[in-house]
Amino acid sequence: MKDFIDLRSDTVTKPTPAMRKAMTEAEVGDDVFGEDPTVNALQEKVARILGKEASIFVPSGTMANQLAIKSHTQPGDEVIIEATSHPYNFEGGASAVLSAVQFYCLKGSRGILEASQIEEAIRPDDHHFPVTRLICLENTHNRGGGSIYPIQRIAEISRFAKSKGLLLHLDGARLWNASVASGIKPQEYAQWADSVSVCLSKGLGAPIGSLVAGSKTFIDRVHRFRKMFGGGMRQAGIIAAAGIYALDHHIDRLKEDHQNAKRLALGLKEIKGISIDPEEVETNILIFDVAGTGMTPLQVRDTIKKEGVLIHAVGKTQIRLVTHLDVSKDDIETALKAFKKVLRPIQS
Ligand SMILES: Cc1ncc(COP(=O)(O)O)c(C=O)c1O
Repeated sequence: MKDFIDLRSDTVTKPTPAMRKAMTEAEVGDDVFGEDPTVNALQEKVARILGKEASIFVPSGTMANQLAIKSHTQPGDEVIIEATSHPYNFEGGASAVLSAVQFYCLKGSRGILEASQIEEAIRPDDHHFPVTRLICLENTHNRGGGSIYPIQRIAEISRFAKSKGLLLHLDGARLWNASVASGIKPQEYAQWADSVSVCLSKGLGAPIGSLVAGSKTFIDRVHRFRKMFGGGMRQAGIIAAAGIYALDHHIDRLKEDHQNAKRLALGLKEIKGISIDPEEVETNILIFDVAGTGMTPLQVRDTIKKEGVLIHAVGKTQIRLVTHLDVSKDDIETALKAFKKVLRPIQS
């Protein structure tokens, strides 16, 4: 099979030989009985990293978010969330079905909300209205272009949520990227949230797996719903081992992905018709506009694929690129050459 430079997502990485070795050697047991030593070790490790009492291993980031929403809410509750967030847009409408809650969507700046927006969205204590229960934030923000939530903003929103008796869930699918780029420890971000979800299968390069972290009581509730949602796994140590390996070996290197994304942004900026601000590229995701090239994102996608580069068309004029473990510095230069070639006829 032809080797593509795959910039569609950081979920496309394949386990490295060392990660596969760790998986092969993993000690396993039945995790539904709580008897898988490798899963237990992973859960303890992630709880420690996030400064929470406990964490629980689940198959996907979607399940992690949905379990957190389910465990925090009652049917009919309202969840305040950003309009381009993952749970609202890309989780199949799960919260409506599985938790019977509705979202109150607020438009953020590159996915980042102001505390005052949240304040305005809280429902009065009147039986006409749904009960505002939970706030969900996303760090880094995927459709915000990998934007990092400023920690002061999270703290402000968290203090406000507490003062109003609201709960806060942090979708930290790429919290590792936020942490490496900002120098702020995952625990410092997590301290402001009642629950945090993190993914191992994105920038960290594990094949499967996410975790939800929070208080022991909360995680006990998540454990019950994980069974209900069909997320109880058996000898899951095989995949948990990949997660442990990823946490030990693949966090620091995320800075290379961030450098590659920046380089990509600077190169793309040179191409006529592309609109991108490299200053806004903070982590491993970049979103840019191709309206000025005269090509649609789908045309760019289909043409550049013939040059061996895979990209993700998002919306009518935008393309998203994501750098990761399986994209090298040289690949970035090759991808830039391909963009220049594909977009050249339109420029002249
Ligand atoms: C911010 C964010 N949250 C959650 C998810 C869901 O993760 P999964 O694909 O493992 O369900 C993603 C996936 O890309 C994401 O970007």
